Amino acid sequence: MKALQLTGNKENPLAFVELPMPEPKAGEVLVQLKASALNRRDYWIREGMYPGIRPNVTLGSDGCGTIVKLGENVSESLLNQEVVINPNQNWGENPIVQSDEYTMLGMPSNGTFAEYLAVPVDRVHPKPAHLTSEEAAALPLGALTAYRAVFTHAEVKEGDSVLISGVGGGVAQFAFLFAQTIGAKVFVTSGSEEKSQKVLDTGAAGAVNYKSEDWDKQLKKISGGFDAVIDSAGGDGFSKFVRIMNPAGRIVFYGATRGVPPKLDVFTAFFRQVRFQGSTMGNDIEFEKMLQFIGDHKLKPFVDSVRPFDEILDAFEIMAKNTQFGKLVVRF
Ligand SMILES: NC(=O)c1ccc[n+]([C@@H]2O[C@H](COP(=O)([O-])OP(=O)(O)OC[C@H]3O[C@@H](n4cnc5c(N)ncnc54)[C@H](OP(=O)(O)O)[C@@H]3O)[C@@H](O)[C@H]2O)c1
Repeated sequence: MKALQLTGNKENPLAFVELPMPEPKAGEVLVQLKASALNRRDYWIREGMYPGIRPNVTLGSDGCGTIVKLGENVSESLLNQEVVINPNQNWGENPIVQSDEYTMLGMPSNGTFAEYLAVPVDRVHPKPAHLTSEEAAALPLGALTAYRAVFTHAEVKEGDSVLISGVGGGVAQFAFLFAQTIGAKVFVTSGSEEKSQKVLDTGAAGAVNYKSEDWDKQLKKISGGFDAVIDSAGGDGFSKFVRIMNPAGRIVFYGATRGVPPKLDVFTAFFRQVRFQGSTMGNDIEFEKMLQFIGDHKLKPFVDSVRPFDEILDAFEIMAKNTQFGKLVVRF
């Protein structure tokens, strides 16, 4: 079977390889992938900028496919079911934080950029019926991260004033959809007018370009202040959030694409009871709740484009330029 692996060669970090067909062990199922999607993580790994990377591993954390073979002790009823794969591995017993053994599919273990993948049966969940395979493949990592950030940590509820920064991001788009669905007033930032317009067309309360000098002042003016901010950019922009928070506001961050904030107004933060909350992925219960939420509300992810697996390297180039809006999906 064909897979896309990290080579360890800096000139050519990714290559298609022929691998033996995986054999499901006891308690596992063999999934024939129908679609998979890129995350920024795959790009960081390609660039050699991710902890714990090693060569000869198949990348990819997102996938949707059909169960075509069962290991021992797996119910026959699962055969031919269409499923979404939970990329979490070994979250552990504590729902609040992952265990030391926690990893994600697609590094260090083989991931979804392959025609077939064997996974433990508790990693697969029925595909939401209203979604195509390509749409369902866009969910796992991004929607799980957004679900925990928005609901578990930011505790967003109806009527809250919420800022989603960099809404063109793979996670951010889900944070936007989730907050909007429960009736929050959702404002966004983006570096692209076109991406801003797309979310304004789908009901965002306001949008500001984070490249403008006074983006924070513009946001304060149109929103009045925020009960919650969901951010993955970090950098110097992060420092500005403190002053546009409502009292007891929550700033939840799951990434730092722009690096470490150079300074932080902790005085304003503690006086206004502002909470800073880091967030990573989500536990297995949150994964199930995320799928349930998407199914109940018939939400559809923004998909930028779908291309054949053979052309996945083109999708990496688009991610490098960051011109996409929504997920970059490949079909098998
Ligand atoms: N902790 C976790 O579990 C977890 C999970 C997933 C991702 N992450 C991390 O979170 C980050 C985003 O991941 P992703 O998959 O959503 O990536 P992505 O799809 O590449 O999105 C990144 C987005 O960042 C936005 N951005 C760039 N500069 C910005 C700025 N100065 N201010 C605000 N937004 C800015 C851009 O938004 P526009 O396109 O709208 O301009 C871009 O689309 C990455 O660093 C990733 O490694 C962490």
